[in-house]
Amino acid sequence: MCGSAGALLQQKVWAPMEADSIFQPLPFHSLTLRNRILRANIAGRFDNADGSGNRARINWELKFAKGGVGAIISAFAPVDVRGRIVPNYAAIDRDEFVPFWRELGRQVHEYDCKYIVQLAHGGRQRDIRGIEYAKGLSSTDKPDPVHGFEAERMSLQDIHDVTRSFANAARRAREAGLDGIEIHGANGYLFTQFLSSAINDRDDDYGGSLENRARLLLEVVQAIRSEVGRDFHLQVKLSTTEYANVLNPWADRGNTIEDSVKVCQWLEAAGVDAIHVSSGSMFAHPRNPAGSFSVKEVAKTYDTLLGSGRYAFRNYVLFQIWPFNALFGRLWRRQGLSLDRVEGANLSDAAAVKQAVSIPVLCTGGFQRASLIRQALDKDQCDAVTIARPLVANNDLVKMFEQGFDQPPVPCTYCNKCLFNVLKNPLGCYDESRYSSHQEMLDQIMSVYDPPSFSSADNDQIERPSA
Ligand SMILES: Cc1cc2nc3c(=O)[nH]c(=O)nc-3n(C[C@H](O)[C@H](O)[C@H](O)COP(=O)(O)O)c2cc1C
Ligand code: SF4
Repeated sequence: MCGSAGALLQQKVWAPMEADSIFQPLPFHSLTLRNRILRANIAGRFDNADGSGNRARINWELKFAKGGVGAIISAFAPVDVRGRIVPNYAAIDRDEFVPFWRELGRQVHEYDCKYIVQLAHGGRQRDIRGIEYAKGLSSTDKPDPVHGFEAERMSLQDIHDVTRSFANAARRAREAGLDGIEIHGANGYLFTQFLSSAINDRDDDYGGSLENRARLLLEVVQAIRSEVGRDFHLQVKLSTTEYANVLNPWADRGNTIEDSVKVCQWLEAAGVDAIHVSSGSMFAHPRNPAGSFSVKEVAKTYDTLLGSGRYAFRNYVLFQIWPFNALFGRLWRRQGLSLDRVEGANLSDAAAVKQAVSIPVLCTGGFQRASLIRQALDKDQCDAVTIARPLVANNDLVKMFEQGFDQPPVPCTYCNKCLFNVLKNPLGCYDESRYSSHQEMLDQIMSVYDPPSFSSADNDQIERPSA
């Protein structure tokens, strides 16, 4: 990789690891991590169309296990076919997928790394329609405002069925020998659609007051606990501030940190072992993942979404044609965090949650400087950080911290090109300025297919009809 490695080597700060808060073990109720850095959830379309996992998924996760993180939190793993948001994500909605998750966990464990699977349901929010279902289940029957996917208001029977799907998925995770589960309660997916004052328009026991809006999440926690017992690690990722009016100042702003603090206290009382703090009423959102937003980059891959959702064609035109694209880009950037504020974007929310609960609090968003992470831990703003893009850019970031680097020689630029490519191309770091050549970038991206799914060793084992 290119970059002024020489100058940055001077940023090395040698501190004994035993005294470094980053490298202190993190104890949860029933699980202990060896350090305070978790790989945050990063979805990529590596898997098979039926939701079964693939060799590439294992290769991808091993990059981070080898790089020294204390735990990996998986990508969005659908608990039900109707909760899928794009094809080709590894799902956990069937018993026959347990062997894949078991093998993934086994290989990750070889590197003294724990594996937590994110149980997820998209509700009305998704990216590519796929062939399995038309309307997404939600708290409302209003379509999602980004792509215009249709929604169906959930009946009490639907609520019961989805609750069972989460409990069954938790059981599968435990049967697979994984170390815990995370409920994806953030970023606009099903639980946000119930929790949010800006989205939930029900007038039954699951809508109206905050308590009612949190009912589905709390019932799912209860159902999971009944299924897997008290001692299987369970954490919840939440958008603690929604900023739902970010692109439309006349809209409801959605839940505030004060609302979310109450929800976190209820979750703790219900037996949740940790809170993972994120933000944003949808995904992507100008604040999550915060950073650059280039309409030109979005336009390059948006054709993948054509035919998905009733606004997709409108968006496609908007992203291709000046001045609409320029205006949209400007609006997004204005409402987002400027590059110098991306670091630790959710720390103040994490600190507010931390003061209100006694379970560990994980914070996501903009961590790649050891000194900032150390400071957040030492000031008790959170108990650990979760990292996505900086680990995509530098898989061995934790090892670099161990060696005394404050930040990597060629850091993540928060350009978000990994995000803009994720629906069309293999997941990886697409910031060409970080590489010495285009080919080097491609090699890094394609390295996830090595070792391949099918090798000559497999070939030798295939039974051939005798001549
Ligand atoms: C390409 C990409 C895919 C992501 N996929 C998921 C996901 O499946 N589930 C989830 O909860 N968050 C997902 N996120 C959000 C990250 O987990 C993380 O919270 C966010 O990017 C902020 O952290 P960072 O600044 O370290 O990237 C994704 C982010 C990116 C960039
Ligand atoms: S493309 Fe690379 S540099 Fe840009 S945000 Fe993603 S990981 Fe970071």
